[in-house]
Amino acid sequence: MAEVEAHPDSDSPSFSDHIPVMLDSAVALLNVRPGLTYVDATAGGGSHLKKILDKQKGSGLAIGVDKDTGAIEKLKTRLKGEKVELVQADFAELKEILPRFGVSTITGGILADLGVSSMQVDDPARGFSFNKDGPLDMRMNDRQELSAAQLVNQLPQDELANLIFEYGEEKNSRAIARAIVAARPLNRTSELAEIVCRAAKGRGIRQSKRSSRTGKVNAIHPATRTFQALRIAVNSELESLELLLEQSRSLLAPGARLVVITFHSLEDRLVKQFFRRMASHCVCPPRQPVCTCDKKPEFLIITRKPLVAEEKEVLANVRSRSAKLRAGEKLP
Ligand SMILES: C[S@@+](CC[C@H](N)C(=O)[O-])C[C@H]1O[C@@H](n2cnc3c(N)ncnc32)[C@H](O)[C@@H]1O
Repeated sequence: MAEVEAHPDSDSPSFSDHIPVMLDSAVALLNVRPGLTYVDATAGGGSHLKKILDKQKGSGLAIGVDKDTGAIEKLKTRLKGEKVELVQADFAELKEILPRFGVSTITGGILADLGVSSMQVDDPARGFSFNKDGPLDMRMNDRQELSAAQLVNQLPQDELANLIFEYGEEKNSRAIARAIVAARPLNRTSELAEIVCRAAKGRGIRQSKRSSRTGKVNAIHPATRTFQALRIAVNSELESLELLLEQSRSLLAPGARLVVITFHSLEDRLVKQFFRRMASHCVCPPRQPVCTCDKKPEFLIITRKPLVAEEKEVLANVRSRSAKLRAGEKLP
């Protein structure tokens, strides 16, 4: 087992190389009780899942899903002897996965701690990091064909610029796409990072990002947004999230909870809008004087404002800086 690190938000040591974000708050909001079924849709290094299992006290069912084959294999060893089912799959396929375990409705709840794990980012061979040289890969699921190299080397310039703009919210996307196309073929993360830095520098652009937690503007590496955009596209992250949210409507039993931790504004927007839509009593056009839609709220929003990590957690784990946690409970 890897080095054990104390987690600031927890009274128990971290379970894996990945320091879990908002571990205690997320599991508390999931309201884990023995006898019920819980799904950890992003099992990763297993810290959240282990905490769920501890709270279940051996009664009920826990299903851990991750599209990363290596993560699931490691968890099979780490969680040996625990009452847990581990599945390598995209959480967008939850509806198809559950019947394999005789589950039609999730009585306890679903947890999704989105994005990438430290194990993925820290491994240069996975190609997620602009700080570590590696192949331009970025696939969470190594069984999938599409990689970052294919997007970088094969997309028409306009499409590449749109992708970097849309998924990276990168204002300099056109210049970056032009520089990438001129430098093709690119096969290494270091090559891409350098091209992006040069394109940004050439336009005198300093990259910064406003912290959702403190409101302060922090300087970021010029390649951050481009790498984020490619990662989101390679792994269809937003499409999968939309499918998971939509499926939770029919999969969760009344009283069951949905807890989602996001790491960038595109994800958070989807979750926020989903909960708002689900909690609303009326979807009539705003100018219509009388409600005729008969809409019933489907979820109760538990976190009126998203939870963010406390200062001490952010100091100990920089990854938690951009985390936002939202939770809702399925209504009858
Ligand atoms: C932030 S980590 C989760 C860490 C985990 N909560 C823990 O305690 O270690 C995110 C994990 O979600 C997985 N993941 C991301 N999107 C996924 C998807 N659509 N389907 C399944 N797994 C996904 C990634 O492979 C990664 O292992």
